[in-house]
Amino acid sequence: MLVAADVGQGPVVVLLHAFPLTRAMWRPQVESLRDLYRVITPDLPGFGDSALGASSIEGFADAVAGLLDDKEVNEPVSLCGLSMGGYVAMAFARKYSHRLASLILADTKAGPDDAAGKAGRDKLIARVKTGDVAGVVEAMLPKLLGPEADPELADMVRALGSSQRPEGVAAALLALRDRPDALPGLAGVRVPTLVIVGQEDAITPPDEARKIAAAVPGAKLAMIEKAGHLANVEQVGAFNDVLLAFLAGVA
Ligand code: MLT
Repeated sequence: MLVAADVGQGPVVVLLHAFPLTRAMWRPQVESLRDLYRVITPDLPGFGDSALGASSIEGFADAVAGLLDDKEVNEPVSLCGLSMGGYVAMAFARKYSHRLASLILADTKAGPDDAAGKAGRDKLIARVKTGDVAGVVEAMLPKLLGPEADPELADMVRALGSSQRPEGVAAALLALRDRPDALPGLAGVRVPTLVIVGQEDAITPPDEARKIAAAVPGAKLAMIEKAGHLANVEQVGAFNDVLLAFLAGVA
């Protein structure tokens, strides 16, 4: 079973974190949502306090469904995933559409890795297998945050990422490398959907968000100014405003 924080009362909102982080990245959103919603933030398999498990994005989605079963959450939930969390949310939407009330896809993309992307994952897997998780985080850091990000945020991401277990990071890299093309499945999404992207996202840029928004019937797109890939921590106020406004409109 996944380890998750579970706070507040009301309609259920589940927040899925990015690679190679943990549920801790959602602290600013949990604080703002918990007065109105029951907010569940799992550590995905192999991250934070959760045991190593699946090494596929679909397997991660199964683990999220299993967590909801364990918690006896039977009503449809609003599911928000950022980047890797977004890949998992799209897989969840394909397989467990009946469990969704709404979908929020933040700083993520639908397409699979191309050959160069897969080769890059293989290099990172080799590095992680030597135990050098910190080196992987350091290599990613320039792209995780926008150019104007507070240096304290870089320190937070560095500390959180580099404390992850090599086995968990390697399993997630495999899952990221081999994830399927999620674009065809997006046409079948039948719940209110919000796509959020940091204007300066260098990993999943605004064009990727536009592709998702164009593929999901009726999806809304929100651009967060002065934010890079981790838009939720870089521009907390703007991110929370669009998230809260969207959730308020979900029946
Ligand atoms: C993430 O932020 O979860 C990762 O950058 C996603 C990826 O590398 O594809």
